[in-house]
Amino acid sequence: MVELLPSILSADFSRLADEVAAAERGGGTAIHVDVMDGHFVPNLTLGPPVVKSLRKATKLPLDCHLMMANPNDFIAAFADAGADWVSVHYEACPHLHRTLELILSRGMRPGVVLNPATRVDLMVEILPMVHHVLIMSVNPGFGGQEFIPFSLGKIHRLVHMRRELGLQFKIEVDGGVAHDTVAAIVQAGAELLVAGNAVFGGGNPERDASALLAAARQAEDLDSASRMADEKSKIH
Ligand code: DX5
Ligand code: ZN
Repeated sequence: MVELLPSILSADFSRLADEVAAAERGGGTAIHVDVMDGHFVPNLTLGPPVVKSLRKATKLPLDCHLMMANPNDFIAAFADAGADWVSVHYEACPHLHRTLELILSRGMRPGVVLNPATRVDLMVEILPMVHHVLIMSVNPGFGGQEFIPFSLGKIHRLVHMRRELGLQFKIEVDGGVAHDTVAAIVQAGAELLVAGNAVFGGGNPERDASALLAAARQAEDLDSASRMADEKSKIH
């Protein structure tokens, strides 16, 4: 079943606990936390102290998306702050295997993130180690950007690779997930949907999270119905 991960990047930081609680009531099942360092991406956001406060505000898993140049230096700090899932960029990790080992060694669930221009095929050796693969469907750094359509093909290829390799990792999508894009994203095979602007941008995160999730679930139901019809037509 698809899940919604509200991204606090677009939330009102002065009321963070309330914003997170509202997004949770709207159906969010993990909180997406964007960590930006001003080097790897052209923006600055937050670090372990905010994760520590968030840990007190919610019981949901904290999905920390590290957009930073040297993530290894901060893995321990995020673990101590209470992060549950930690994903690092392929493009920022010359020793990706070592970084994923480090995340695992601190008891967190590791993910690998791919920028729009990075091919999913490059992940083949590392896939057995990851809990999730995060496909960036915008160039990372800012909320409220437009979904890049070729990301759908990447999701599709990743679904195929997962099947071929017999693996279980989750496919997460981040950037431009909104009412007009969510059906195609779900139909391509993504199951973890990150949304910032579409949840927090309209001033009513509970209502907007719930509407977006409903649209995602509807697309999922339609998709499985058409798959079943396909199977049936093959049998007859
Ligand atoms: C962008 C971040 C995203 C961001 C998505 O670099 O990684 O998590 O919050 O924002 P929307 O959903 O507004 O595109
Ligand atoms: Zn993110």
